[in-house]
Amino acid sequence: MSTDTSAKRFTRTLVTSALPYANGYIHLGHIAGAYLPADIYVRFKRMRGERVLYVGGSDEFGVAITITALKENIPPQAVIDRYHTANADAFARLGISYDIYGRTSWPLHADTTQAFFRKLHAAGAIPAQEMELWYSPQLDKFLPDRYVKGTCPKCGYADANGDECEACGAQYSARDLVSPRSNIPGDASSPELRASRHWFLDLPQFAEKLAAWLETHPEWRANVRGIAGGWVGDLRPRCITRDLDWGVPIPLDDPDAAGKRIYVWFDAPIGYVTNTRQWGLDRHGDPDAWVPWWKDAETRLIHFIGKDNVPFHAVIFPSMLMGQGDYILPDQVVANEYLNVFNRRTGQSEKGSKSKGNMISVDWALGHFSADSLRYYLCAVAPESKDADFDWDDFMNRYNGELCDVVGNFVHRSLTMTVKNFDEKVPEAGEFEADDVAMLDAIGEHAEGVAESLENFRFRQGIERVVDLGRKANVYFDARQPWVTRKTDLPRTGTTLHVCCQVVKALCGLMAPFLPDGAKTLAGTLGVPLPGGGPDGGPDAWAEIITRLPAGHPLAPPQVLFPKLDKDRIAELAELHEKGLAK
Ligand code: 2FM
Ligand code: ZN
Repeated sequence: MSTDTSAKRFTRTLVTSALPYANGYIHLGHIAGAYLPADIYVRFKRMRGERVLYVGGSDEFGVAITITALKENIPPQAVIDRYHTANADAFARLGISYDIYGRTSWPLHADTTQAFFRKLHAAGAIPAQEMELWYSPQLDKFLPDRYVKGTCPKCGYADANGDECEACGAQYSARDLVSPRSNIPGDASSPELRASRHWFLDLPQFAEKLAAWLETHPEWRANVRGIAGGWVGDLRPRCITRDLDWGVPIPLDDPDAAGKRIYVWFDAPIGYVTNTRQWGLDRHGDPDAWVPWWKDAETRLIHFIGKDNVPFHAVIFPSMLMGQGDYILPDQVVANEYLNVFNRRTGQSEKGSKSKGNMISVDWALGHFSADSLRYYLCAVAPESKDADFDWDDFMNRYNGELCDVVGNFVHRSLTMTVKNFDEKVPEAGEFEADDVAMLDAIGEHAEGVAESLENFRFRQGIERVVDLGRKANVYFDARQPWVTRKTDLPRTGTTLHVCCQVVKALCGLMAPFLPDGAKTLAGTLGVPLPGGGPDGGPDAWAEIITRLPAGHPLAPPQVLFPKLDKDRIAELAELHEKGLAK
């Protein structure tokens, strides 16, 4: 088994998940993309006793938010407060275990962003230039980004944004947009092009360094290497300011800077730094506690994102970090493809989209399903190398057939029989026979196998390996027939169940990163501690997975860890989803 040894060079791991816009409710597609894999990874690292910090938060600037505010006739602050609160809550209920969930609207974030900007500007990496932009004569203001819509010059899509088309993915200059129209309610004027002076991140300055750095990461997933490589081969200066009043002010003493703001995609990744700063203040009361997490070469920085965010995390933000001079660069950028939605009526997979209303919000899903059932399915079908589908039948079949029938069932029948026949204690083991030894050996093999999967960011494979141990354990249980031997040979039954108890304990540890609620309940039944860990590190609880419960160790009567999903209920909920009501 090959394990990613690069982790060994580091003493600290800083994990980030993309900051979702506070402009909508997070849905299962988001979770499968950037949040669940990061959480599984972080929980695993904490168990290993490594020093790990997990930073997330809301992305609260950008025109999508101000357009929502305009349409609802409320201030942008009300929009971000609504979604930030709801999303932070949904993440917590799903067990996404951030060390901090911050906000880019925090004043501290303006400070961090402006420091980044100033440093790059002083180094000559942010020159200003005039450009032509759409302007509303009626409102007497520029129409940045989505404030203007029109027909895509490449594919003819009639609802394309000012500088990019959602339908074909094309990016173009504003002046190429066909039949532009204002997207601001009440603005009936025809937009016209006007000159405006803006600031550009001079990406070509970083081309050589970026190319050399990307060369040092052949281990990254093909999608990330492919997209980043394509970008680095064709770098252009990127405009990082906008004619807006919602965003971080440009920290320059320049009349053209007044009334403009820093572009959201410049400040958003800096949010990871801000939130680390805030964590340091909250946790240690120390304004410098964040520094080693971002500036010490022994910190391993890992970004978890969806595929659409690759250019920002593997090219643009690294350039910004390079331009600071003393920051580390990401050592891994883990990007998933997309989780689409399987439409039962058409039999087709379709992209999740707000306009189709086919996305399933985390909040809605948690109103009907346990966090573990959702985490199980989203990990089992994770879109790691190609798109996957959320499919209602598949959800039920895989959760019921694998987690409930294989893992849950083994745990339940082993513990029920042990508790009943051996006075609620782990029984004495007699002489081990070959199948007992093979079963006990499988624990170590699986602990190593799951660790290998997780070290290498193969989460699907990791959960499969956990279920596989349950499968082997059921085969062992069936072959040993303790329900028969209990009447004829109690010592032999004791040996069987002694072995089963060890497998149950191992399953508890192995499932912990994936299925924290089930692991917690099971740990309570077994009377074993559920390992924590965190930014300060601790003992290696993963190594403890192979240690055995002694004979005589007390057990509580088992609880059902993973209740089965009901077919009729699934059909009802699928129907609500089809009607666009799973929001
Ligand atoms: O795609 C998005 O939802 C962005 N808000 C992600 C930002 S990630 C990071 F840069 F903050
Ligand atoms: Zn198009």
